[in-house]
Amino acid sequence: MRALVAGGAGYIGSHAVRALLEAGHEVRVLDDLSAGHRAAVPAGVPLFEADIADRDAVSRALEGCDAVLHFAALLSVGGSVRDPLAYWRNNVAKAIALIDAMDAAGVRRFVFSSTCATFGVPVRVPMDEDHPQAPINPYGASKLALERALRDLAAAGVLRAVALRYFNASGAHEDGSLGEDHAHEEHLIPLAIDAALGRRPPLTVFGEDYDTPDGTCIRDYIHVQDLAVAHVQALEALERGDAFQAYNLGTGRGHSVREVVDCVGRVLGTPVPHSVGPRRAGDPPRLVAAAERARATFGFAPRFTDLGAIVDTAARWRRDHPQGYRTRP
Ligand code: UFG
Repeated sequence: MRALVAGGAGYIGSHAVRALLEAGHEVRVLDDLSAGHRAAVPAGVPLFEADIADRDAVSRALEGCDAVLHFAALLSVGGSVRDPLAYWRNNVAKAIALIDAMDAAGVRRFVFSSTCATFGVPVRVPMDEDHPQAPINPYGASKLALERALRDLAAAGVLRAVALRYFNASGAHEDGSLGEDHAHEEHLIPLAIDAALGRRPPLTVFGEDYDTPDGTCIRDYIHVQDLAVAHVQALEALERGDAFQAYNLGTGRGHSVREVVDCVGRVLGTPVPHSVGPRRAGDPPRLVAAAERARATFGFAPRFTDLGAIVDTAARWRRDHPQGYRTRP
């Protein structure tokens, strides 16, 4: 297939580009480089440097394409509470503009980056796809809105779509060439690594009074290459079954913040300086995926089943790229 990867210069999108190429697909990237990096796009892959709502540029990028994989969205829970309009504009209005352009171009396959944040506070864990969706922040609400739009469009025959609900994407490419490079980093693993390397202040553990065995929050950390492969599998399975389908993507194993902090210390051979602070607003105590549907439908089977192996790839990336993609090899 020829696939257009919107947001293909970003963290998860760039890993998906690599996985698509390895599976023999032809790839183009659409990215305005507001958060993505030119250096994350492999040589030989055309980069259309434009906004997903730029109709002319998107129409050119879509020529001859069979599918769109859509990663080009805002992703911060806290940011969405501070600036909800930006989330509704980018994650909903602009995504609809992209789908409009696809419709005009006759491109009818869509793979959508969704999130476990569409579920809100869990009523049961592990969470399968039928868990109630009641997001508690504008980020989750914006992603759920697009899921609903895709369901309606699929029912009307406009396209076939799959929503992949990521749990905690983490790690970096095992060959060291791709990794996480956010202008404003908020995620636990990179912050813990940087604290251990002395590049940032000590980590603050957000609360240790949760109803979990060690009192800190539990998350399901899934390696970014496993997510990337799942996109290829979901794309290839898109012709089968219902026209809209949603899948949870996680390992099914939860790790507490304390376990992550200890793990980073072990991998780096130096403890993570940290202190315990208050809870962060909107953090559910425990988020763990039940990913059986993805396994049964398209053979999803995460290769990185050990937290230490995931942290090791992230640590190597951060050690070797202190300035992210600005660090030249
Ligand atoms: N944490 C800390 N200190 C920090 C950063 C994080 O203790 O400095 C804790 C958080 O409170 C949380 C855990 O580490 O318990 C993981 O936090 P992240 O920010 O790394 O990830 P989240 O679980 O908050 O967010 C992820 C995705 C979001 C998605 C969300 C669903 O990054 O895109 O899961 O709730 F929306």
